[in-house]
Amino acid sequence: MNQNDKKKAAAQAAMKFVHADSIIGVGTGSTVNYFIEALESVKNTIQGAVSSSDESTKRLKAMGIEVFDLNSVSSFDVYIDGADEITQHKHMIKGGGAALTREKIVAAVAKQFVCIIDDSKQVPVLGKFPLPVEVIPMARSYVARELVKLGGDPEYRQGVVTDNGNVILDVHNLTILNPVEMERKINQIVGVVTNGLFAHRGADIVLVATDDGVKEIT
Ligand code: A5P
Repeated sequence: MNQNDKKKAAAQAAMKFVHADSIIGVGTGSTVNYFIEALESVKNTIQGAVSSSDESTKRLKAMGIEVFDLNSVSSFDVYIDGADEITQHKHMIKGGGAALTREKIVAAVAKQFVCIIDDSKQVPVLGKFPLPVEVIPMARSYVARELVKLGGDPEYRQGVVTDNGNVILDVHNLTILNPVEMERKINQIVGVVTNGLFAHRGADIVLVATDDGVKEIT
């Protein structure tokens, strides 16, 4: 199986978490796009979705799925999203698609986070994938200097503006041995909206597609 086949297999495996009459939390990215496609078969049986990006909202609405404002939903059962890197402890780096802040907000409201990945995303230690940090534009240079003090090598993601009107710094050359602590430290820098470490609230279940099929890690 190639990587896209694996992404599709993981996305299809996530359909068992989609129940009638429920609201589904929908992430962002190429793996989630396969999940959105798979929702076609159940779109008339679910209430609708809450979405983590304008891009996913657009795709869901194009299929006729209602997208609720998160403020009108007090809780929902499951959030389905991909990851850029994930450890055996289900700590993740996300935000390769620049949707990290809304992803973290929607994930926080969900009872369960189901992460769908191909096996290339599994790593022993986070940090080879540059860590995305969403930053208020006027704080960009200040935040970059603070990230250097934490041992990173931040790079401004040119030409990218997030759905929230902010910019992204991708932090290279971090070896993140304590993701919970690093997530907290970076979020304390003034001007940071959030960072792509999902460790304080990691995944609950991982569906990882391999050449031998989709494995469920709980
Ligand atoms: C979007 O901002 C990201 O967090 C994605 O969930 C992550 O980059 C995984 O994307 P792919 O499914 O495209 O690999």
